[in-house]
Amino acid sequence: MSEQPYFDTVNAVEYYVGSARQWAFFHQKAMGFNLKAYSGPETGVRDRVSYLMEQGNINLVFTSFLNHDSPIAEHVKLHGDGVRDISLKVPNIDETSEYVKKRGVVKPGKVETIKGDFGRMKKSVIPAYGDTIHSLVDLSEYDDKVPPGFEPSNIREKSSGLKRIDHIVGNVEDRKMDSWVDYYIRGMGFEQLVTFDDKDISTEYSSLRSKVVQYNDRSIVFPINEPALGLKKSQIQEYLDYYNSPGVQHIALETDNIIKTVTDLKQRGVEFLYTPAKYYDTLAEHVGNIDEDIEKLKELYILVDRDEYGYLLQIFTKPMGDRPTFFYEIIQRKGARSFGKGTFKALFESIEREQARRGNL
Ligand code: FE2
Repeated sequence: MSEQPYFDTVNAVEYYVGSARQWAFFHQKAMGFNLKAYSGPETGVRDRVSYLMEQGNINLVFTSFLNHDSPIAEHVKLHGDGVRDISLKVPNIDETSEYVKKRGVVKPGKVETIKGDFGRMKKSVIPAYGDTIHSLVDLSEYDDKVPPGFEPSNIREKSSGLKRIDHIVGNVEDRKMDSWVDYYIRGMGFEQLVTFDDKDISTEYSSLRSKVVQYNDRSIVFPINEPALGLKKSQIQEYLDYYNSPGVQHIALETDNIIKTVTDLKQRGVEFLYTPAKYYDTLAEHVGNIDEDIEKLKELYILVDRDEYGYLLQIFTKPMGDRPTFFYEIIQRKGARSFGKGTFKALFESIEREQARRGNL
């Protein structure tokens, strides 16, 4: 990147959920996140509770409402449990705001200064797809211990080996993908990474189109999906129907040892999508030599894909909430820079089996 970065990395992802305590408990016990901080009536915040969870460089915040007329309650009623805020760390909020404003596509909100126990945090909000937002957070005058209004907590949990966020995927309406790609590129200075065409990502029944934007040497990676017409309902359309708007479909969490991580997550109770045994019969032909034992991958349902740079291993969880909307991907990269184009078909067939069981195919 020639100019200095205006956005550093994903700071945190905040979810609005029906019960923050239960989401936090699940991420702690089943996924190995530490409880880093808590905010609620006990810390002087009257209308909500939030749990900040941390593993590696991944920061997740689970927030729920205490009053029925809260906008958080509205969000949960409309969308179910889901991602509200993909917060981005910026080196200098005034410069980033100015830069975004000048580009004339995205309107950042007023810069707010929030005083806390650890200094001054500066923040501005820009809208994204659906009810999703990006809080731009400047921590240059803030000791990054815990956010304002939060109390540090030290509940440590055995890590499952998750290190960082690899990418965060948004689902948008049919024919809206290009305008959202443009929003990030023209509006925020992102670059397009790869394109898939319709034919690449389709099964007998349903299909999608996907484009990927990135910033700061892939510190921030946002694939954007839209539904495409197939014989039956696209899984992206199913998402849109249940979420009632565009929103975050999945977050890919990176590990250095996917076999160890997935074995651990399964033992702790995380449920993953099933991959048929026959996928592994021809795997070696598709991906060539890999370090991992294919029998082990088959046992865990882990998918493998190769591109010109190397290969990657990945697996997808079942939806995390009650609606068939948000889920996680666990990914390990061994050189590959892509997102698993070759495994999309296997993934789709898995998702469609679940979709059919819900009577939505
Ligand atoms: Fe992904």
